[in-house]
Amino acid sequence: MSATGTITLSPLTPELRDAALRITVAPEQVRFGGTPASSIPVADRESARESVVILRDGTPVGYFQLDTRSVPGAPAGAHILGLRALVIDRALQGQGVGRAAMLALPDYVRARFPGRTAVLLTVNADNPPAIALYAATGFVDAGVGIYEGGHAGPQHVLRLDV
Ligand SMILES: CC(C)(COP(=O)(O)OP(=O)(O)OC[C@H]1O[C@@H](n2cnc3c(N)ncnc32)[C@H](O)[C@@H]1OP(=O)(O)O)[C@@H](O)C(=O)NCCC(=O)NCCS
Repeated sequence: MSATGTITLSPLTPELRDAALRITVAPEQVRFGGTPASSIPVADRESARESVVILRDGTPVGYFQLDTRSVPGAPAGAHILGLRALVIDRALQGQGVGRAAMLALPDYVRARFPGRTAVLLTVNADNPPAIALYAATGFVDAGVGIYEGGHAGPQHVLRLDV
């Protein structure tokens, strides 16, 4: 599947903020990645987290965070970034936006976080769409086993070398 339009990544800017806050997912998906309305204020407070907006032809259609501390359940270190809170707006899911965004991630990390050579994340074992997305974009099992400490059930720990 290929995304219609051009997918790019941008740090959250004041100009993008209102549209990013309006990105929503289906109610049953909230437990997987939250919503920007709840995630963005956390990143505002915590300097370790960068809010990243996924744009389609310049319009915000998705959101995630990069965390210099890694994420709960995954290895951490000076060369590691954690990826968390990934969501694609519910109206645009299944159109290749998530795939294009994850394929754009290595260049974004190299440009914004020189010295960070791996992206780690956790994904719920009962979220097959997300697991398939990460597998299709180069993420592999991080080799640290299943993380059982999450609030939403067992999670796979995945790694992408960038
Ligand atoms: C998971 C999510 C990020 C995927 O983004 P997306 O833009 O819908 O995905 P894409 O259209 O780019 O699809 C890329 C690949 O993901 C997988 N995928 C996406 N949606 C899927 C679905 N409903 N069922 C199965 N696989 C799916 C497929 O492997 C797909 O590749 P293919 O089309 O060649 O088969 C999006 O559905 C989402 O925001 N879900 C709710 C929040 C969430 O689960 N976040 C992840 C937290 S770890």
